[in-house]
Amino acid sequence: MKINHSLFNIPIINSVIEFDCTDSTNLKAKEFAKRGSVHGTLFVAHEQTKGRGRMDRHFISPKDDGIYMSVLLRPPIELSKMANITLVTALAISRAIRDICHLSPQIKWPNDILINGKKIAGILTESGKDYVIIGTGINVHNQKFDSDIKNTATSINLETGTHIDSFQLLYCILENFNSLYYEFINEPDLSFMQKEYNSLLVNMEQEIFIIPHHLSQNNSNPYTISTEGLPSHICKGIDSNGNLLCMNSDEKIISVNSGEVSLRGIHGYI
Ligand code: BTN
Repeated sequence: MKINHSLFNIPIINSVIEFDCTDSTNLKAKEFAKRGSVHGTLFVAHEQTKGRGRMDRHFISPKDDGIYMSVLLRPPIELSKMANITLVTALAISRAIRDICHLSPQIKWPNDILINGKKIAGILTESGKDYVIIGTGINVHNQKFDSDIKNTATSINLETGTHIDSFQLLYCILENFNSLYYEFINEPDLSFMQKEYNSLLVNMEQEIFIIPHHLSQNNSNPYTISTEGLPSHICKGIDSNGNLLCMNSDEKIISVNSGEVSLRGIHGYI
């Protein structure tokens, strides 16, 4: 992927730092944030040796196969409200994959993007005292995956059979992110994107298990988490605060927060 200066046409991008190979763009962004890097710094790597996902899972990042990037923001709003930036990013990625790759992505709340039920992209949002880092990994050219994830992971190449231009996709994601971000910081909540987000939810109106984080930690594959003893719920979509609404067997609606739980479909990953 050739990164070029057109990125500076996107208002939110103020600086670009490119790595041929690094441990993790989120780790690099964190180091730079602590040393005072500016709002709107984009970190892009062609390869990562320690790509990370939620719950300390590994995000495989082979050379030139994917888009591995992190955006450092210093938002003018409360950091607690920024938890929802993951949902904003998921929508930006979904729109870009739809427009550039002509695929129909779906979102597995809160941070996975799926095509045909398999994960194509993930988001890892991390924050410090005065910054937020939004890391995005997208499987673009991967031809195959290791046996432990091959049933749950896919790539744009595998789904379309074509070689798309990764930079064009990266650019389109950042353009969409830019416009959604400004709406997000100016609006009181997520009402402005709630309907579109819910229309993309892969579990909408489906039966799901809500998995507390302590059960999913140390588990590299979401398929292998035991759901024994957990009640199932029907997924009703996000509310205007980005929490997921779930209906239990008594038709009572509970609201769950992405900082605390993950989802799993009753038949497996979705
Ligand atoms: C997940 O699947 O849980 C999130 C995956 C996020 C991966 C991206 S790749 C760029 C950035 N650097 C990292 O180490 N992680 C994110």
